[in-house]
Amino acid sequence: MNLTLRVWRQTNAIDPGRFLTYQATNLIPDMSFLEMLDVMNELLIARGEEPIAFDSDCREGICGTCSLVINGVPHGGQKGTTACQLHLRHFKDGDTITIEPWRAKAFPVIKDLVVDRNAFDRIIQSGGFVSVSTGGVPDANAIPVPKQDADRSMDAAQCIGCGACVAACKNASAMLFVAAKVSHLGLLPQGRVDKERRVANMVKAMDAEGFGNCTVTGSCEAVCPKDISLSFIARMNREYAIALLKGK
Ligand code: SF4
Ligand code: FES
Repeated sequence: MNLTLRVWRQTNAIDPGRFLTYQATNLIPDMSFLEMLDVMNELLIARGEEPIAFDSDCREGICGTCSLVINGVPHGGQKGTTACQLHLRHFKDGDTITIEPWRAKAFPVIKDLVVDRNAFDRIIQSGGFVSVSTGGVPDANAIPVPKQDADRSMDAAQCIGCGACVAACKNASAMLFVAAKVSHLGLLPQGRVDKERRVANMVKAMDAEGFGNCTVTGSCEAVCPKDISLSFIARMNREYAIALLKGK
């Protein structure tokens, strides 16, 4: 396959940035999108040019590190698929592909396609820890957890913190991410102890980081590679309202 790549190049946070066009040739359809960028970078290095900076780690869809807007869609638009799990067979020979970083005020560009997602870490930190008595490992059946609560908690826990929901949202809202994090602990008895303090602090931290509010367009859910449901946002709003009523 041969592809034309329009890639966002930006030297640092203050550089205004621009698109540069590259020809990627002799590609194999079963290559992943990131392997294609590796091949492109080998070529750029051989030509003495600066390689394209992009984030990746696990390359198997579980770490949330890869962060590319591909043809205008975070992660490229294949349902439930991260950019690292996207393969060239989903494109046509001769296609022109536009590749950009996440774009949100709270995710400043560090270089090219790499953005600073520390804002997410600070939101997680603001949630604090779970208050449980330490000691010996409890028996698995010591704290009964209803099956539906365990399933729903595990659904929320699938969030890999990639930030695609923010990149897709016209308000750059982080509510799907925060709702998933609030819910996966708040749904379980062990995490319920701190749930009001946790949701109040995490929503406060989210607002302080400059993320926008949710206007329920559903774009976050549509691009989420882990299919996190919008219903978690409604759940978080209920939990947040209760926390405020209790003065947390
Ligand atoms: S909710 Fe989905 S899109 Fe948002 S950070 Fe989590 S996994 Fe990524
Ligand atoms: S590199 Fe880990 S999810 Fe893509």
